[in-house]
Amino acid sequence: MDTAALVEESFEHIKENKEIFITSFYSNLFDLAPEVKPLFSNVDKIKQGEKLYNSLLLLVENLKNPELLSDVLSSLGKDHISYGTQLQHYPVVGECLIQTFKSILKENWDIETETAWLETYNVVVNLMTTKN
Ligand code: HEM
Repeated sequence: MDTAALVEESFEHIKENKEIFITSFYSNLFDLAPEVKPLFSNVDKIKQGEKLYNSLLLLVENLKNPELLSDVLSSLGKDHISYGTQLQHYPVVGECLIQTFKSILKENWDIETETAWLETYNVVVNLMTTKN
């Protein structure tokens, strides 16, 4: 299976477990990276989780539409500068995403799926952090 197919297929399991994804993502993130907690101090974690989930859904549905992704993600990346996000925060958020997916997919998670998500996350981070 190619990268896009692996990402799409694995995300089907996340769609079925959306609420668990949202709550466990932030608890995993604050365990892995307590230093980012202050960035979210005035943020409703559930509402924020919905936004994160929706942006992942948009990503997964548009893997074959790089122009749209490029526009949306470079603008999202600019907004993140004003949220206080720094470049060094991106790897731990990626690690947290992978951990959270893995804990939800369990036996449906494998090394090919992990590699596919790592590649996809790298593309996302590049689009979010490259100045244009
Ligand atoms: C693939 C990477 C990421 C995606 C897809 C993503 C997605 C989003 C989305 C969709 C929003 C809502 C924007 C809006 O309200 O219009 C958001 C807000 C936010 N994100 Fe991210 N994000 C990512 C990485 C990060 C990283 C690395 C950090 C730093 C720890 C971070 C911290 C925040 C914060 C603090 C907010 C603002 C919450 C607020 O003040 O309302 N994000 N993110």
